[in-house]
Amino acid sequence: MTDIEIRSGAGTFVRELVGADVRKLSDDAFREIETAFNEHGVLYARGQTLQPEDLIAFSKRFGGIESHPRQEYALEGFPQIHVLSNIKDGDRSIGSAYAGDDWHTDLCFMKCPSRMSILYSLEIPVDDNGEALGDTLFASAADAFDDLPAEDKDFISNNRGIMQYNRRQEIKRQERMHDHPRPPISDEVKAKTPDISQPMVRTHPITGRKSIYVNQTYTFGIEGMSEDEAAPVLKQLYKHVTRDDNVYRHKWQVGDLLMWDNAITQHKAIGNYKHPHRRRLIRTSVTGTEVF
Ligand code: SIN
Repeated sequence: MTDIEIRSGAGTFVRELVGADVRKLSDDAFREIETAFNEHGVLYARGQTLQPEDLIAFSKRFGGIESHPRQEYALEGFPQIHVLSNIKDGDRSIGSAYAGDDWHTDLCFMKCPSRMSILYSLEIPVDDNGEALGDTLFASAADAFDDLPAEDKDFISNNRGIMQYNRRQEIKRQERMHDHPRPPISDEVKAKTPDISQPMVRTHPITGRKSIYVNQTYTFGIEGMSEDEAAPVLKQLYKHVTRDDNVYRHKWQVGDLLMWDNAITQHKAIGNYKHPHRRRLIRTSVTGTEVF
């Protein structure tokens, strides 16, 4: 028994850690948190006060940390910390702006996508009524897999999805040309993020739970099918994963630390704010395994 409290959250796959300072967790308390996290997929703690070093130290308790391929958005002096922000310093974005605004899992386009992402909020925009903007939505891709009819489970268990990071980034760059211009991704980044195919069903490396591993942002096709043939199949799966009763909406407060499992959840950031609203969060990614 430890003195931490892990409460049920708004969704079956969400848990809230209450009354704990993540800088000061005993090994037993940490194990309890890790077990709840592996089982559910999303876990958050409000009211944390973290320096970048604290975020790194907490993340390292889960495993190795990996750096995001887009180092131009790393926090100065911390290559392992990825900044998500719409704030500019002169002409330069201090972070990846309006990132993740369609359903996805982080780094699914890498051979070994990250096991988990840990996001800490530093600035959150609010509207004129003091209501937070820029919420993040989460869906359980594992619950969605469990709910599929047997023939769909069978089909996706025997097929692979095609993930295309560079193609998505170029589409996004063109869409935001008018309000948030950004340069094309460099040849160096492109070389690190070639197109890749991944199993459409992912098995959780620790719990063995299965989940749907295609997503609206990065999966453009299914191996062995034309894009026209694959599109309705993928669309149906995306709709199934992200249906309202499978979604948790996180309303951010400054000081929130929120972590999600990239093997069994998908997420999407709501970009319903713009300059002079300021949104700034920092994220680490814990190393994962190949997808199987
Ligand atoms: C992401 O990690 O995909 C973005 C999440 C967010 O900014 O809310």
